[in-house]
Amino acid sequence: MSRKAKKVLVTGAGGYVGSLLVPKLLKAGYDVVAVDRYFFRKYPGINAENEISTSTFDLPRLEVLKEDVRFLSEKVFEDIYAVIDLVAISNDPSSEYFKEATIQINYLSRARTARLAKKKGVKRYILPSSCSIYGFQKDIVDENSEINPLTTYAKANRMAEEAVLPLADDDFVVVVMRQATLFGYSPRMRFDLAINGMTYGAWKMGSLPLMRDGTQYRPMLHVEDTTDVMLLLLEADKSLINGEIFNVGGDELNYQIKDVGETVKKIVEELTGKRVDIEWYGDPDKRSYRVSFAKIKKVLGWSPKRDAAYGVRQIVEKLESGELDKTTETITLEWYKELEKWYQIIKELEMYGGIINIKIDEEQLRSEALS
Ligand SMILES: NC(=O)c1ccc[n+]([C@@H]2O[C@H](COP(=O)([O-])OP(=O)(O)OC[C@H]3O[C@@H](n4cnc5c(N)ncnc54)[C@H](O)[C@@H]3O)[C@@H](O)[C@H]2O)c1
Repeated sequence: MSRKAKKVLVTGAGGYVGSLLVPKLLKAGYDVVAVDRYFFRKYPGINAENEISTSTFDLPRLEVLKEDVRFLSEKVFEDIYAVIDLVAISNDPSSEYFKEATIQINYLSRARTARLAKKKGVKRYILPSSCSIYGFQKDIVDENSEINPLTTYAKANRMAEEAVLPLADDDFVVVVMRQATLFGYSPRMRFDLAINGMTYGAWKMGSLPLMRDGTQYRPMLHVEDTTDVMLLLLEADKSLINGEIFNVGGDELNYQIKDVGETVKKIVEELTGKRVDIEWYGDPDKRSYRVSFAKIKKVLGWSPKRDAAYGVRQIVEKLESGELDKTTETITLEWYKELEKWYQIIKELEMYGGIINIKIDEEQLRSEALS
């Protein structure tokens, strides 16, 4: 008899990271419960035409749960092996705009999810946090460095870390991933991430605005590499990871902005044959930070497989083929604002279950009109 597959619950499953992670988990043999409000309408296993895709994986092993994480019931954690708690208002501008919701979703709901998971006997809980917790610092920072969370987004991540780490014990593995800034293609594309946005601008406009003087450092990581780490943490020896924080990235992916700019320029020019001009602006940006990724390499023997050039090439190829474009949905805050705006408009206009097409007994209308 075949071994029963382990079931992993992923929150934020329809997001930039989640929509790559879920198929990867299914391919690796896990069953998946994919929880999301699906604000970006990326349902795992369902293609753009709303047809169920059976080519990549066996669908009964995937349960799509459309729910707000602030209301997750205890029941959903039954029989779950691990939780990967991706859900978040996922960048600084969106978190400043939706401050209260950020505290509720990024901090309180994740703390609640971790507690419920532990109570229901889940074995592992993985919190994807962010290197932005370090803020801007002069020296290279590692997991023991003082942190400096400057924004609502960074603060909520830190509060979530502080809430979930103490739950770690022999029966409940808790591990925190402080991810570098992500880049690369995902079905829920994000052009509000630095490398992705620069690539789109260079491809579309032929110009690449860069803030002076380009020597500022930022740690970057391909989105496929971060999902690789999530799979690794599901099975890693628990004595190596329990209660631990890992910076997730690679020392060689601490890029200076001018180097990222040169990479984008070179690849866009090579693949399109068009010229790209780097345009410097502003006063020298002092906000620099460099992160050490020695711990994850030493403890788990892991380093990233993909660099910025790989991600830029991937995106330009998809833009060139017409498979990908920048829409409002690819800029997180713009999309959330659109949804809120249309919600207000629809609330005002909706009558009888619709706007123009409504629920109506046409026969009755006819008889009242014509007889
Ligand atoms: N992208 C990065 O550079 C980066 C870097 C570091 C850390 N992270 C973290 O990784 C995680 C995933 O980020 P992402 O880029 O995939 O973000 P994303 O915005 O693409 O995905 C977030 C998902 O959460 C869902 N969601 C939001 N609020 C919800 C709610 N109340 N209930 C249910 N679902 C809800 C959204 O519909 C969306 O699908 C986040 O925790 C993010 O903070 C991302």
